[in-house]
Amino acid sequence: MTRWPVLVTRRLPPRPMAAVLERFDADVWEGPPEAIPRDELLRRIRGKPGAITLLTERVDAEFLDAAGPDLRIVANYAVGFDNIDVDECTRRGVMATNTPDVLTETTADLAWALLMAAARRIAEGDRYLRARTPWTWGPEMMLGQDVHDATLGLVGFGRIGQALARRAKGFGMRIVYYDVFRPPAEVEKALGARYLEFDDLLGEADFISIHVALTPETRHLFGAEQFRRMKPTSVLVNSSRGPVIDEAALAHALRAGEIFAAGLDVFEKEPEVHPGLLELDSAVIVPHLGSATVATRDAMGMLAVENLVAALEGRPPPTLINPEVLEKA
Ligand code: DGY
Repeated sequence: MTRWPVLVTRRLPPRPMAAVLERFDADVWEGPPEAIPRDELLRRIRGKPGAITLLTERVDAEFLDAAGPDLRIVANYAVGFDNIDVDECTRRGVMATNTPDVLTETTADLAWALLMAAARRIAEGDRYLRARTPWTWGPEMMLGQDVHDATLGLVGFGRIGQALARRAKGFGMRIVYYDVFRPPAEVEKALGARYLEFDDLLGEADFISIHVALTPETRHLFGAEQFRRMKPTSVLVNSSRGPVIDEAALAHALRAGEIFAAGLDVFEKEPEVHPGLLELDSAVIVPHLGSATVATRDAMGMLAVENLVAALEGRPPPTLINPEVLEKA
């Protein structure tokens, strides 16, 4: 069995890390908690047939040039793959894989937590008490918005959007959605979800949760104009990718009371957060924790390793993004 040299751009959770070390001659970035510096990445990928990459690494023409002709697979440790130039990989016969399904429910849990926290001012209330602010219960103290029986608008109705819809059903919510891909009618029926055009959804939903991939079409899908169309009582949740929202416009909309609150897991210029959002109690912000549970990060790692092993052993990886590479081969 060949012990292929592979690059792993950050230490993985214990089980997948052990699986990589057992099977491969692995070069693991053990540096500080920050992402591997670009020059280090380009140096270390040289001549490797495979790599496990994170969403913090850009896999583009420069990366592929640095890797050279031996590179066969880039196994991304994430479901999102906007960090990968998939067309460029395909042109060069490099397989690209991601980690779908294993993180669907966990990411939907986090989106739901953000929705609840933003609607009911949980983070603000916590900060209030920790600041030792004197308080007495009162009829108008820290009022939020009802979640039960409200209308949830899902922008992006794929796996994670649908998982959020299942949670919302338990709260008696009405579900509307917008997506460029319409799911089969049975899916709509099972979830009681109604399709709306994007602009109509903005005006009708009490809560909007974003579940789209980052593409040139979805970059700044939410900006000043969209916030003006939303209800002043509405809550926006984003657990997809930061650049889908124009953060400066969001900070303005929250400050101006154009929308009620936002729950954000992802940011436009990660790891930076727009300073305007940091100042606002109506923005609940967490550091890209969507898939961050022990079991899910383990499962993502095992799937990334499975993809790497399959590709280097000459089998189709289970979650290949660009199957055209195999057709070409
Ligand atoms: C992903 O997988 O794309 C998330 O953003 C991190 O789990």
